[in-house]
Amino acid sequence: MIRQMLSDDLEQCEAIVRETMGDELADAFARNVGGEEFDGKPYRIVVCDKYNQSLVLGLGGVVPDEMSLETCWVAWFAVSVSAQGSGIGDMLMRRLLERARCQGYKRIYVETYDRPEFRRARVFYDKRGFKPMGWLEGHHPSGKGSTFYMGMEL
Ligand SMILES: CC(C)(COP(=O)(O)OP(=O)(O)OC[C@H]1O[C@@H](n2cnc3c(N)ncnc32)[C@H](O)[C@@H]1OP(=O)(O)O)[C@@H](O)C(=O)NCCC(=O)NCCS
Repeated sequence: MIRQMLSDDLEQCEAIVRETMGDELADAFARNVGGEEFDGKPYRIVVCDKYNQSLVLGLGGVVPDEMSLETCWVAWFAVSVSAQGSGIGDMLMRRLLERARCQGYKRIYVETYDRPEFRRARVFYDKRGFKPMGWLEGHHPSGKGSTFYMGMEL
């Protein structure tokens, strides 16, 4: 089941980001999302267990780009390791793209990284129509990795 992310989900979401993306990004998640109001803006959702709605299995969001009103990005998109490969990421991404289109955005992008743990995500995005847009060297919060941008028209 998909529902809006709540402040009570924060700890579980941070743990999923930590196990899938590492400590530096989990700390960035806590800094950025931890300070939000959780009032539905920006749009952040979770997939939870169908028998236990407080158990979070995955998360994602559609966040406005700071420069272009017609552009948004897919923020903090991850599925817990034990729940991967069962279609949750696909379900989340469909909902995020639908939401981005409904909000009138014309293009969307994702930020991923050149590290091995993000290979699956790069393939996942490629299969869903995101095209490579370029690298930002040294942009990983550790200072040691590059951000790889992928985007598409909606
Ligand atoms: C990328 C990520 C979000 C994908 O989530 P996921 O839930 O594993 O994705 P899905 O299960 O929906 O889809 C993955 C593949 O499994 C397949 N799949 C779907 N249902 C399945 C099932 N029941 N059993 C096995 N495979 C299945 C899908 O068809 C898909 O294959 P495809 O890409 O060839 O279409 C997840 O791997 C992840 O969290 N990675 C680490 C964090 C990360 O890198 N996030 C992105 C940061 S930029």
